[in-house]
This record gives sequence, C-alpha cells and structure tokens, in this order.
Amino acid sequence: MKSLVIAIDGPSGAGKGTVARAVASELGYRHVDSGAMYRAVGWRAIRDGVSLEDEAAVAALAERSRIDVSNRHITIDDVDVTRAIRTPEIDRAAAAVARLPRVRSVLVERQRQMAATGAIVMEGRDIGTVVFPNADVKVYLDASPDERARRRANDPAHTGVPAAVSEVATLLTQRDELDRTRPASPLHAASDAVVVDTTGKSVEDVVQEVLRVVREHGLGDSGT
Ligand code: C5P
Repeated sequence: MKSLVIAIDGPSGAGKGTVARAVASELGYRHVDSGAMYRAVGWRAIRDGVSLEDEAAVAALAERSRIDVSNRHITIDDVDVTRAIRTPEIDRAAAAVARLPRVRSVLVERQRQMAATGAIVMEGRDIGTVVFPNADVKVYLDASPDERARRRANDPAHTGVPAAVSEVATLLTQRDELDRTRPASPLHAASDAVVVDTTGKSVEDVVQEVLRVVREHGLGDSGT
C-alpha cells in the first residue's frame, strides 16, 4: 500500500489532536503534533529568559534544541514537557514564537524531514498550505467557536485552564485571530483541502469521515 502524507489543519479545539491520533493509529502511521513543537520552543524561551519577540534569539534556541514529538511524550533536550506546555501561558507563548518567520523555517524544515518516508499524519495550522503543499491528503477541521471552547475547557491535557467556558472562548478567539492574521503562514484551509465541520459530531464519526477522504483522495478506489 502507498505510504501517504496526510495533513490535518484547523483552529484550536477543532478536534485535530484526537482525530489525527486515531487516524494514524487506524492506518499504522506516525502521528506528529506540530503545534507541540511551537509550544516546546515557547516553553524553552520563557525558561531561558529569552524575549518572545527576539526573532534571532528564539530561532537560535529552536535551532540548537532537540525536540522529540514522536510519541505521546514531548521532550525538548530530554526534558519532558508534555504537561508543562498545555497551559494558558504557553498557549500565548507558542502563538508568539509562531509569528516569527525564522523560527517557522527551523521547525518546518524538521517537519519535512520527519515525513521523508511517508506514512505520517501531521496536524497543525500550515501543514497543507506550507509544510506539505503536495500532501497526498489534506483535511481542514473546523467547528463552531462555542463548541471549540467547550472542548478545550474539558480537555484534561490542558492544565490550569480557566474553568469558565466563556473565558476559554475569549482566549481561544484571541489566539485564532493571531494565527489567522499573522503575515507568516496564516491559518487558512488549503484550496485543495477537504473541509470537515466537526460541530455536533462524535470523534468516531469524524475519524470515519477522514478515513473516507483518505480512501478517496489518497488511496484511490482500490485502497481499503
Ligand atoms: O495546535 P496548538 O494549539 O498546540 O498550537 C499552538 C500554537 O502553535 C498555535 O496557536 C499556532 O500559533 C502555532 N502553530 C503554528 N503552526 C503549526 C502548528 C501550531 O503556527 N503548524
């Protein structure tokens, strides 16, 4: 069977993580959460006292850091940051470092290397538009702002998240706005992506829908 590169993009809380992990597991593919790489760099910059606006310093930090997102544990230079990067402070730090083109180019290069052998599901904001413009399958997951805020508020991976859904909704909307309007690789669906609205749908339904897209777009009629 052909080894595909599958790109899953979308805003926060659209269900990318859960869906990408399940699709990868179903296909026996590797799953990579590219957002965790921006989070790890933001975490490290704060820890090392590097200004999140100092593009050269943050890019140098990214360049010299070994970031491993190959399994459920995320490490940066062997420090396990799996839980530490899921906080409101790192939500903001990740979005701040992700605005810097030189930081993006360091991480995009590494993301491309990870896909050299195919058989990968990578999720993020620019995977289908910038990282893999020739991906075999591109899916853009979206959901209503209310539903995305509810999911994020109930996500056990996110520690220290304000309990009120309305507060989560405000923070989420602000971060989405940053991601959509930044000059470097803004969040938008690739023109050839299949857009899936996950509002009101179960994870299982969305996973099946994405697997159908994979069969139709990536594997052709003979692929099952
Ligand atoms: O997906 P997640 O919420 O963990 O991503 C954190 C931040 O990293 C996003 O708000 C976005 O600014 C940035 N990001 C990005 N490009 C990606 C993945 C994430 O700019 N491919």
